[in-house]
Amino acid sequence: MNISPQIIEDIKARNDIEHVVSSYITLKRAGSNYNGSCPFHSERTPSFTVFPSTQSFYCFGCGAGGDAITFVMRMENLDYISAVRALAERSGVTIPENFNHINGTNEVTRQRVLEMNKDAARFFRNALFDSKYGAQAMDYLVNKRQLSTAVIKHFGLGFAPNSFGALHDHLKKLGYTDEEMVVGFLCGKGKNNTTYDYFRNRIMFPIIDVSGNVIAFGGRVMDNSEPKYLNTSDTPAFKKSKNLFALNYAKSHCENTMILCEGYMDVISLHASGFENAVATLGTAITAEQARIFSRYTKKVVISYDSDQAGQRAADKAFKLLQEVGVDVKILKMEGAKDPDEFIKKYGATKFNSIIDASKTRFEFEMDKILTKYNINNVDEKIKASHELCRVIANFSSEIERELYARKMAVVFDVPLTSVQKDVSAIIKRRVREDKSKEQSELYRITSGIGDRVNPESASNIRANKIEEAILGLMLLKVEHLKECSERLIADNFVTPFCKKVFESIVSIYKEYGKFDVGYIQDEFSFEQISRITKMLTERERLSVNDKATLDNLIKSLTNEGEKKSDGDSFDDIFDTIKNKKRTEKG
Ligand code: UTP
Ligand code: MN
Repeated sequence: MNISPQIIEDIKARNDIEHVVSSYITLKRAGSNYNGSCPFHSERTPSFTVFPSTQSFYCFGCGAGGDAITFVMRMENLDYISAVRALAERSGVTIPENFNHINGTNEVTRQRVLEMNKDAARFFRNALFDSKYGAQAMDYLVNKRQLSTAVIKHFGLGFAPNSFGALHDHLKKLGYTDEEMVVGFLCGKGKNNTTYDYFRNRIMFPIIDVSGNVIAFGGRVMDNSEPKYLNTSDTPAFKKSKNLFALNYAKSHCENTMILCEGYMDVISLHASGFENAVATLGTAITAEQARIFSRYTKKVVISYDSDQAGQRAADKAFKLLQEVGVDVKILKMEGAKDPDEFIKKYGATKFNSIIDASKTRFEFEMDKILTKYNINNVDEKIKASHELCRVIANFSSEIERELYARKMAVVFDVPLTSVQKDVSAIIKRRVREDKSKEQSELYRITSGIGDRVNPESASNIRANKIEEAILGLMLLKVEHLKECSERLIADNFVTPFCKKVFESIVSIYKEYGKFDVGYIQDEFSFEQISRITKMLTERERLSVNDKATLDNLIKSLTNEGEKKSDGDSFDDIFDTIKNKKRTEKG
């Protein structure tokens, strides 16, 4: 059964985009729109805009855009159906149990992958506890890693047997298809379309989300072979950039503090020693999305990365991202052990607790680092050190913090406070200027079509593409324009394949249902494509050139362009008028 457009319409009518978005981020009114800090990239000046009139959002910084459904899909890492369901629940709309994509594709759904993962996790656990397969793995965990059976069970650890087909055959018996296993990243596809188990002869760490779903796996070898860990890639049920290992447990122990580690084994060791507020990222450096998860669950994060150089460098990024989302961040100074797991084993939980208590703020951490790097009794080195520390201070967004750190620096470096303050403000001013020019060159890149992944053909058809996008924007803005275009244009009038596809999709839905909404095509297009479509819409709306005459001119130009007649002056005129209009609006 298909989702009826009526359901999408009901759901969108009851979930104003401004309300949906503001349950995740803080929005400020700006004229008839709203602004906020973009949740999809990290930024200093808010360029994320919500447009209530078209029920869409668009970020002028990173180009992410869409409607309330896209927003929830991206924030919650959900597929289309699940996002529609989430919004339905939020607003009390009932939707049929068995509803499906509007175009009824038989994609492997999130739900199916989750069921399969749960069955796979059972299979791995049984293998670990079955001495016929799992004796060596069990010996590794218990003797080499000193984990108790209780801890092994608590984390649902398992073992992937050294076989190319054991899991595959098991899942097949349970009714899963090869396609599902491949999409769910439990199997790979070999020559002649054969399917083989992806995880073999590895200790399996299930990644479990806060609702208790097994969303992915990490698999560790038991010797020194490479790669040490294999991890599930992104699937319909999993985005590694948006989840944290052990958050399912940590979430109920983290009101005040969370501990951020690098490794699965660190987290397991910490939990086993009573630090149940520890989590880890999933084989990658921390992302902005993960930073936001922390801000949702806790007030303070203690970064507890490995003590090697890589770990300390990674800490810089973690500091920055966590600070941006407004949590209190501290960093652990760990001496005598390479990571928390080793530290606990060597020195015990009490000692670990005391280094948690002694953890440093970012400023202290950075100042320490600079003071070890330079000898500030030497004038030249002292100047270099001051520059570096001023740059650190300039990173703090709170003026009070900057003031207090400037005072500290003035004392330690024995320089006048006013000099520190002046240097810091100069750095901030320069950065704002740099941000602006970066934004401008990005804008240029987008408008000139260079490096355009969504619509690569736009670069060689700049004028035609502008017209196409203007027309599509108007079609999305008003149903009367949509009607007119569907009567006067055919897909072949469109020059670039992307715009042609968008046109076809809009018109086919319009012909069937007499209306159109971006909400109907979310599963046909990628996030990047939906973003571009939203951009076309918001640009038309901002220009407010949506009168019939403009559309008429655009249509004429496009049909000329399509026939490759060289009578192209007319569209230059159109864009001149648009540009002038924009200028007068701005002025
Ligand atoms: P570590 O090498 O510190 O692993 O990598 P660990 O978890 O402490 O494991 P042990 O103590 O050596 O057993 C930290 C994290 O980086 C990711 C994993 O998420 C790991 O937990 N990683 C590491 C990979 O994804 N792939 C690798 O090959 C190595
Ligand atoms: Mn380790």
